Amino acid sequence: QELLHGALPGAEVLVVSNREPYIHNRQGDEIVVQRPASGLVSALEPIMRACGGTWVAHGSGSADRETVDANGRIRVPEGTPAYTLRRVWISDAEQDGYYYGFANEGLWPLCHIVFVRPSFRADDWRAYREINQRFADAVVAESRTEDPVVLVQDYHFALVPKMIRQQLPKATIIAFWHIPWPNAETFSICPWRREIIEGMLGSTIFGFHTQFHCNNFVECVDRFVESRIDREVQAVSLGGHETRIRAYPISIEWPPSALGSVPARDKCRADVLKDFGLAAGTKLIVGIERFDYTKGIPDRMKAIDALLTRDPSWKGRLAFIQVAAPTRSKLDTYSSLQSEAKSLADAINTRHRDGQAPIHLVARHYESTDVFKLFRAADVCGVSSLHDGMNLVAKEFVSSRDDNAGVLVLSSFTGASRELSEALIVNPYDTEELAAAIKRAMTMPLEEQVERMKLMRQQVRENNVYRWAGTMLVDAARSRTRERILGLT
Ligand code: F6P
Repeated sequence: QELLHGALPGAEVLVVSNREPYIHNRQGDEIVVQRPASGLVSALEPIMRACGGTWVAHGSGSADRETVDANGRIRVPEGTPAYTLRRVWISDAEQDGYYYGFANEGLWPLCHIVFVRPSFRADDWRAYREINQRFADAVVAESRTEDPVVLVQDYHFALVPKMIRQQLPKATIIAFWHIPWPNAETFSICPWRREIIEGMLGSTIFGFHTQFHCNNFVECVDRFVESRIDREVQAVSLGGHETRIRAYPISIEWPPSALGSVPARDKCRADVLKDFGLAAGTKLIVGIERFDYTKGIPDRMKAIDALLTRDPSWKGRLAFIQVAAPTRSKLDTYSSLQSEAKSLADAINTRHRDGQAPIHLVARHYESTDVFKLFRAADVCGVSSLHDGMNLVAKEFVSSRDDNAGVLVLSSFTGASRELSEALIVNPYDTEELAAAIKRAMTMPLEEQVERMKLMRQQVRENNVYRWAGTMLVDAARSRTRERILGLT
């Protein structure tokens, strides 16, 4: 946290993201506050609590409008206000084009290698551009200085850096892409590839989770935009403006604040066994994420099926608890995934039930204390994403295990697998390999679990989210100084 505070003393910090950190919903006479299931929000929230400033985001809750002032502002969190949330309003029709359409039917499948065909429609692109402009204008309106530090988040806002740069040329804009970036061949199918890249190059620094994604991005710049690339320092110059491309592996708060109210392992385990009606001694495998086709949820269930078919002695002795928070359900790819997963769970349970069912699919949002409770109760955490920029679930599982026990089974197609090499790393497309890894995890001797977990905990503790943000802000501070001494601003 010191790194964070020391990096840019006195600078004004603004964050832009689609998802808001606090959602106000009306339930009867009451207004309840909900935290979204979003890795982005869980990473940035502690930073904003530490830095203060303004977070510009889409107001999406049913009571959001009732809780803000005339300018769409509210101080958060409630009770211990630390920063301002400025809500931007988006109509349903605009949301269909900008969020469901271009962002989630175009860019999301384009960037994740999961073989879902991206759809690109001119109307969606128009809505995406308009909403990007609305958010850029909100940032400019909120900014009190001519050189704020603006943190632009994710694929919803590829055009925002350039749009802000046009109005605030002295701003330090750090943009971060929370999902993977594909190779140039894949990216070339996007009809607006040049506009997207040029929009991103309005930033001072553009960050990705891994060096691999940075390299892919630079290749795309090389192929689709006329610019000058300095490969040694990974910088791109376009129209007299330079953007540095950097890898910043995102992480989590250490220790996560929600852990404070979670009981010790034995109590968590007893509660979870009771809640799911499971026998004492049952091996618990957990999976927790948004109900998204990139996460490999059916693949994990198929691995449990394969394991029980190959080795029926596990029947009645293991339980796979899959919590999946429904998301983007308006899109066919998401609603059909939900039905596919439910039918698969039923079929596997019919085949392998022995006293108790092997698969427990909970299709709802869990608050973070319940998530951590499940992590603490588990013998194994399964992360089998088919493709994932980072995957913070893997890091949260590790953070919850202060008993140094528990095994992480982790897809090699996550950014996290580069850092957590002591996990059992698997190819989730290989059902037999995944099944074998789950079995190995359930039978791993405690000493080996402890050895592996200690190393992973050290990795996440040292490279926590404050370091992620701190490193970006230190790099931003250096660019500000460099530009000033070189007389560029
Ligand atoms: O990190 C990827 C991401 O799409 C974030 O942008 C987003 O907050 C999160 O996953 C959840 O997605 P959504 O906001 O569409 O529910």
